[in-house]
Amino acid sequence: MTAKFIVRGGNRLSGTVAIGGAKNSALPIVTAAALAAEGESILDNVPDNSDIQHLCAILEALGCQVERVAETTLRIRADRLENHVAPYHIARRLRGSTYVMGLLLARLGRGEVACPGGCEIGARPVDFHLKGFKALGAEVVVEHGAMVSQSVNLRGGRFYVDRASVGTTVNMIITASLTPGVTILENAACEPEIVDLANFINAMGGRVRGAGTNTVRIEGVDRLRGARHEVIPDRIEAGTYMVMTAAAGGEVRIENVIPEHLGTVIAKLIEAGQEVVEQGDSIVVRSRPIRSVDVETQVYPGFPTDLQSPWVALMGLADGIAVVQETIFENRFGFTNELIRMGANIKVDRNTGIVRGVERYTGAPVEAKDIRGGAALVTAALAAEGVTEIGGVRYIDRGYTRMEEKLTALGADIKRVTVEEGP
Ligand code: UD1
Repeated sequence: MTAKFIVRGGNRLSGTVAIGGAKNSALPIVTAAALAAEGESILDNVPDNSDIQHLCAILEALGCQVERVAETTLRIRADRLENHVAPYHIARRLRGSTYVMGLLLARLGRGEVACPGGCEIGARPVDFHLKGFKALGAEVVVEHGAMVSQSVNLRGGRFYVDRASVGTTVNMIITASLTPGVTILENAACEPEIVDLANFINAMGGRVRGAGTNTVRIEGVDRLRGARHEVIPDRIEAGTYMVMTAAAGGEVRIENVIPEHLGTVIAKLIEAGQEVVEQGDSIVVRSRPIRSVDVETQVYPGFPTDLQSPWVALMGLADGIAVVQETIFENRFGFTNELIRMGANIKVDRNTGIVRGVERYTGAPVEAKDIRGGAALVTAALAAEGVTEIGGVRYIDRGYTRMEEKLTALGADIKRVTVEEGP
C-alpha cells in the first residue's frame, strides 16, 4: 500500500500554521542523546516524521530505550547501548543514519551501519565523513554496502570539512565530544542546526565551542549525562508554508519560528512582491502578484537548497523569468519534469533552472521522488486549476509532519488516500 495526496487547487490559504521542531536538528540531537552513558534525556519539540521514527528504531536496536512520552517529546536512555551493528533495513532508509556511525565510534569504539539511502537528489556519498573519522584515528571502510569499523583508539585531531558539509560537521561533533583530546573543525557548516546540536551536547556536559562559525573546537570529555533540550523550529518547514501561501494566495500566520533563521527567504519573498511581516516568533505572509526573482542556493545564511524546489514552483507562476541555480546538490531538478506536466515552463541545464512564469498550473497525476520536490508539487497543486494526484507521499512524510492536516486547517482541499502499489 502507498499513500497519495489528492489536491483540488484554487483555495486561498488563511489562518495560522504552527511549525514543528527541525528535522535536521532533531536527527543529530536524538543521536547525540545516546552519547550519554548515564541519566536520561528529555527532548522537546521533536517532530514525529518517518525519518525520526526510523532513527529511534535504530537506537532501540542498539540497546537504547526511546519513548515518545508526549506528541513532541522523547525520553531517551542509553546506558545499555551495547550493540555495535545498526540494522541494515532501517539504516539504509535515511541519510541521518550516518550519524549513528559517529555515535558508535564514540561510545563503543566500533560500529557497522548501512550506507544511507535518502532522497534521489544526487549521489550523496559519505567520503567526507570517512575522512573525518580517519582524522580522529578511526579507519572506517565501506564493505557490502555498510560502513564498518573495528576497534579503534580515537584521539582529537584537526580536520578541514570539505564543502562545509552539514552532515560531516555534525558527525565530527558527535564523535569528537567523547574523543580524548581537542578536535578542531575548519570550514565547518554554520547552519542553526549545528548550533542547536552543540547547545545540547554542552547541556550534557560536553565542551563544544564556536558552533555557528567556520571553526568549531571540541574538547572530548570522559562521560556525558542525559539532559533536557528543546529542538529549534524547522526553518525549512516554515519556509515551505511561506512559499505555499505566496503561490496559492491568501494570508497565513506562520507560528513558532525563529525569523532570524529565515532572513534570506523573507528577503527573497519580499523581492518577489509578497508582504512579509515578522511579529515576535511568528511571520505573517500576505500574497500579492508574484514577481520573478533569481536565486542561487548557498550554505547558511544563503538561500537554502531545501527550499529551492518550492521556490521553483512559485516562480513558475511569476510574472517574468527566474534563473534558479543549485550549487549544493548535483541532481536537484528532477521534480521539474513533474511540474512541467502541470503546465510549468522550465528548462534545466545542469545546475540551472530557467523558469518562465505561466498564468496557471493545471492538475495532473504526478510523483514525488524526494522530500522537497514533493513539497514543490504540493505548492503547485494548491495553486493549480483542477485536481492533482501526488504519488510518493512517503517522501513528503520524511520531512513534514501531517502536511495535509496543516493545509486543510488553512482552507486547502487536500486528502490523503491509501492505494495499492502500482506495477
Ligand atoms: C543536510 C540536510 C539536507 C540539506 C543539506 C544541505 C540533514 C539530515 N540533511 O544534508 O536537508 O539539504 O544538509 O544544507 O541534515 N558530500 C560529499 N561527500 C560527503 C558528504 C557530502 O560529496 O561525504 C556532498 C553532498 O553530496 C553535497 C554537499 O557535499 O553535494 C553538501 O552536503 P551536506 O552538507 O553534507 O548535506 P547533508 O548533510 O547530506
